[in-house]
Amino acid sequence: MLETIAVVGAGNVGATLAQRIAEAELSRTVALIDIAEGIPQGKALDMLEAGPVYGYDTNIIGSNDYNVAKDADIFVVTAGMPRKPGMSRDDLLDVNAKIMHSVCDNIKRVAPNSKIIVVSNPLDVMCHAALEASGFPHERVFGMAGVLDTARFRTFIAEALDVSVEQVNAFVLGGHGDTMVPLVRYTTIAGIPLADLMPADKIEAIVDRARKGGAEIVGYLKNGSAFYAPSASVVEMIESIVKDKKKILPCAVYLTGQYGVNNLYVGVPVKLGKNGIEEIVEIKLTDAERQQLQISVDDVSSNVAKLSGAVPA
Ligand code: LAC
Repeated sequence: MLETIAVVGAGNVGATLAQRIAEAELSRTVALIDIAEGIPQGKALDMLEAGPVYGYDTNIIGSNDYNVAKDADIFVVTAGMPRKPGMSRDDLLDVNAKIMHSVCDNIKRVAPNSKIIVVSNPLDVMCHAALEASGFPHERVFGMAGVLDTARFRTFIAEALDVSVEQVNAFVLGGHGDTMVPLVRYTTIAGIPLADLMPADKIEAIVDRARKGGAEIVGYLKNGSAFYAPSASVVEMIESIVKDKKKILPCAVYLTGQYGVNNLYVGVPVKLGKNGIEEIVEIKLTDAERQQLQISVDDVSSNVAKLSGAVPA
């Protein structure tokens, strides 16, 4: 068990994540940090008081001060502004990049050896902002998205085939957006390739739904985005690190030539263990898959370019 895991941002994703970490007793202490006065304190106390009933001894501290997370092993950053009416995507990018810089300045100060898991959107771009602001090695700065995108893909496949979600293994590459690349060739059900069990048009419809999975939830909630599946996805990553399980999970990581991509955060399969990103797993892609990945890479790359100038040097 780790000593401290810190969650920055006490909104729906952050608070649900803190609850899941506490319930799973993945660390002795969970620090929930937010700039809003009273929110992290109130939510943390409420969660602490659930301990006797639920049966966990996790210490949950809510604060506006990063010092409660001194020497934390892992920081999960969920902080960021949701888009408001009249705001462009670029405005959101600017605002959230500035928030990310201020968050990482604090992380660097209180826990210079921590790992940073980025959850804030636009995800791939925010990973860049976190890497730049923290100055940490890229093995310790990575993003959650692939596990979530894969979970959505697996859910829809299991539903369509009426089989256990646990037996659906899937694979999603690329950025966290509409151009992500679910790899059908590597998707199996109890080891059986998906293409053997489902007609191509049905697979295509599921791929499309998975790509737009985030928007589907926003469409229902109107004023917010998903948080149950995103927080569950972060927990799978944290568990692999805490227990040094070395699970291979799709995460947003900084590529330095792998998959023909240089100096860019893109979602690919990686081995997650006690040291963070322990290996980037490179698989051979078909020409069609490579082309699809390139579209996603170009998408991320053009958003990262917008970041330049948006943040203080
Ligand atoms: C989603 C948002 C949170 O995919 O990125 O639901």
